[in-house]
Amino acid sequence: MPWPAAPIASRERVAVRVRVRDTAGGWTDWSPAAHAEGGLFDTGDWTARFVSPRGLGGADAPAPLLRGRLDVPGEVTRARLYVTSHGLHRAELNGQRVGDDELAPGWTSYPNRLRYRAYDVTGLIAEGENVLDVALGNGWFRGRLGFRGGRALYGDRLALLAQLEVTTADGRTHVLATDGTWTAGETDVVANDNYDGQRTDLRRPARPAATDPVDVLDADLDRLVAPDGPPVRVTEVLPAVAVTTSPAGKTLIDFGQNLVGWVRLRVRGLPAGTEVTVRHAEVLEDGELGVRPLKTAKATDAYVLAGPDEVTLEPVFTFHGFRYAEISGVAELRAEDVEGVVVGTDLRRTGWFESSHDLLNRFHDNVVWSARGNFLDVPTDCPQRDERLGWTGDIQVFAPTATFLFDAAGFLTSWLADLAAEQHADGSVPFVIPDVLHTERPAAAAWGDAATVVPWVLYQRTGDAGILERQLPSMRAWVDCLAALAGKDSLWTGGFQFGDWLDPTAPPEAPAAAKADPDVIATAHLARSAEIVASAAAVLGDRDTERHYTDLAARTREAFAREYVTAGGLVISDAQTVYALALEWALLPGERERAGAGRRLADLVRTSGFRISTGFVGTPLIADALTSAGAVDVAHRLLLQTGVPSWLYAVTMGATTVWERWDSMLPDGRINPGEMTSFNHYALGAVADWLHRTVAGLAPGAPGYRRLVVRPLPGPVLTSASARHLTPYGEAAVRWQRADGRFTLALRVPVGSTATVHLPDGSDAVEVGHGDHEFACADPYPKSPELPGDPTVRDVLDHAPTWAAVAAAAVELGAVADDREAAGRAVPYLDAPARELADAIAPPIISPHADTFRARLAALLG
Ligand code: BGC
Repeated sequence: MPWPAAPIASRERVAVRVRVRDTAGGWTDWSPAAHAEGGLFDTGDWTARFVSPRGLGGADAPAPLLRGRLDVPGEVTRARLYVTSHGLHRAELNGQRVGDDELAPGWTSYPNRLRYRAYDVTGLIAEGENVLDVALGNGWFRGRLGFRGGRALYGDRLALLAQLEVTTADGRTHVLATDGTWTAGETDVVANDNYDGQRTDLRRPARPAATDPVDVLDADLDRLVAPDGPPVRVTEVLPAVAVTTSPAGKTLIDFGQNLVGWVRLRVRGLPAGTEVTVRHAEVLEDGELGVRPLKTAKATDAYVLAGPDEVTLEPVFTFHGFRYAEISGVAELRAEDVEGVVVGTDLRRTGWFESSHDLLNRFHDNVVWSARGNFLDVPTDCPQRDERLGWTGDIQVFAPTATFLFDAAGFLTSWLADLAAEQHADGSVPFVIPDVLHTERPAAAAWGDAATVVPWVLYQRTGDAGILERQLPSMRAWVDCLAALAGKDSLWTGGFQFGDWLDPTAPPEAPAAAKADPDVIATAHLARSAEIVASAAAVLGDRDTERHYTDLAARTREAFAREYVTAGGLVISDAQTVYALALEWALLPGERERAGAGRRLADLVRTSGFRISTGFVGTPLIADALTSAGAVDVAHRLLLQTGVPSWLYAVTMGATTVWERWDSMLPDGRINPGEMTSFNHYALGAVADWLHRTVAGLAPGAPGYRRLVVRPLPGPVLTSASARHLTPYGEAAVRWQRADGRFTLALRVPVGSTATVHLPDGSDAVEVGHGDHEFACADPYPKSPELPGDPTVRDVLDHAPTWAAVAAAAVELGAVADDREAAGRAVPYLDAPARELADAIAPPIISPHADTFRARLAALLG
């Protein structure tokens, strides 16, 4: 709900308590108070000015430190530090760290929005002289940024804006604000960069004398904004699980988990001048660090020691994506002296999933870890190579999963504000936000659609219409841009598209070369985004806008059907992704086309040997599309596949995060030869949303989970699954089990919410209110499914054990290389009697194995 009281003034502190009236008219007690405090909302609240060291602190010079002093004449009752910077900052008051956030002020569209933060520093200030030291690092502002080798994209001078306000017992306020009286020095951080790492020379003072002058910069304060979400923090510290020696004699540390952050290391007994180096990588290749996927990022932290005393080494102005570290310079390293420090935006965890299937559970953990690693102030594609950018397409597909797993509303709200700020005048949306690529007219389907989809997902999952109100102009502008590109025939064709990026059949060096036609994908997205804008306008009560975009969506759908759909429901390019789009986004004109498309989609999945065949666009939709086409068992088969490519293949290869490519690591343990090969990319993990909504069965039925739709679809393999989500109303939870011929379901509905429950026996839906509920029905899969009498080829493919035996026989005879090839050969025979699989797999006219295989098949079919 909107803020119910007068707007909070700058520095004003308020307490919020709530109570609730029940239906009988009685009131509950007041809740405990939650506190909020106004930051500095007006430019006029700032007396501080940006200051930058003069003469030192250059791009290749040691990280500078700026110092100011404040004399406090009396007992301190309240103290606040308001601070931001060009570049990263880390503040200390009287030698004590201020706050616990890392890599502040994070990354926003600096020319438009620069975030400051307020810290309660009452406990760090004392009567008398106080010293405020702030070290500055290059970070996103001045370090390397983007895969084109750019550096200092936002400016070449680091600068600080800080205002310390101290109130004493006599009611007076004493202010220390950055100005020309501040001084500067050089720290022991002699080089620092997000991609390349940090070099620290401990022989130099960390807190230098700081006697150099500063310049006051003429920098705009109008772009200062308060944070919308939590900052980046250390969220976990992992022990090293193994210290080993590589074939080349290097000391390797394994943290057992691909993580984002840095290595913390304790050393002792080493002479002054010793150099300790920490290199990072996500995987090993031939037993050594596999650094090729990092591209030009050096990802190396180095320390020059000051002497034999024990010291803890860790960087402050960089981060890495890694599971393994190679450490040199320390003889006889002990595992207990090494830790993996995990950093990321400190989002509250709100969603959980578990099932009876261990590999699936690990996959879900991997999705969570990829979100943690890539939610580092900006939703990024990957955290390790010379990229780490806010790719719009990646979060567009991942937003539903993200908002279930984490309270990501504030985090994404900030990013959407950047998106709106950087959107071009013609409505086109940069491929990455904050934009560092500066493409001329960036309009790519599924990428720019982040402008409409992400706010809509946030509204669906939180019920907060404020996000729609703020984003509507941006949402409209994007759709208007597409409508203009589509022109009179309502078809968005031609031009640059990423398309179904990383379709598994695209060659490693051509990730956009997908089976799905990019024009078909583009027009589908226009229809979808127009529909979203219409729905958003409806929520906001803006009828004219609603009508305008409803019409546009309808025209686009008609054009799509006219141009790309046959009467029988085939969709142009006949790839799984186009069927998934058409089915999920209502792009098929009638029942006949819907049924045909659904059948075709399921058959394409079968004849791909139940291997995944979709890229970024189709992957988040394929399981839902199969479900709505009535082929939920096929969806489960695809989900639980472990052969390459599949969601679980990576898990069988030891993955602890979701990979960028279906085969970032090849079955033989080599790294995919493609130029971009990350092992930590969340996009293909977007199927987790289907796990939550459909496998466990916990879906939002109305914005903010005001109503839940509980419709678990278990599939024949899983015997239990559960999901839990902290909705805006409180905890909702579903847990089901299949045992002894019964399906049992336990459901928790939070106060203020209701649930519509559909049991998998197809019985009528039941409506329930808040509280704990239990349901039971017959197990929809009471015994192992049997092959039907007079089976067709399709029936054989659908019966996993029979198909496995048939395919194994074909492989053994050398008729095919694997089960996938066997399935592919079945395409023209799906409706034929099962025995015709012999003709399909080993055709008598060309195959030397025809007779043997026919006999084997007959035996298998019984
Ligand atoms: C990124 C992707 C991104 C893509 C654009 C890659 O380099 O890592 O995740 O969406 O470029 O297609």
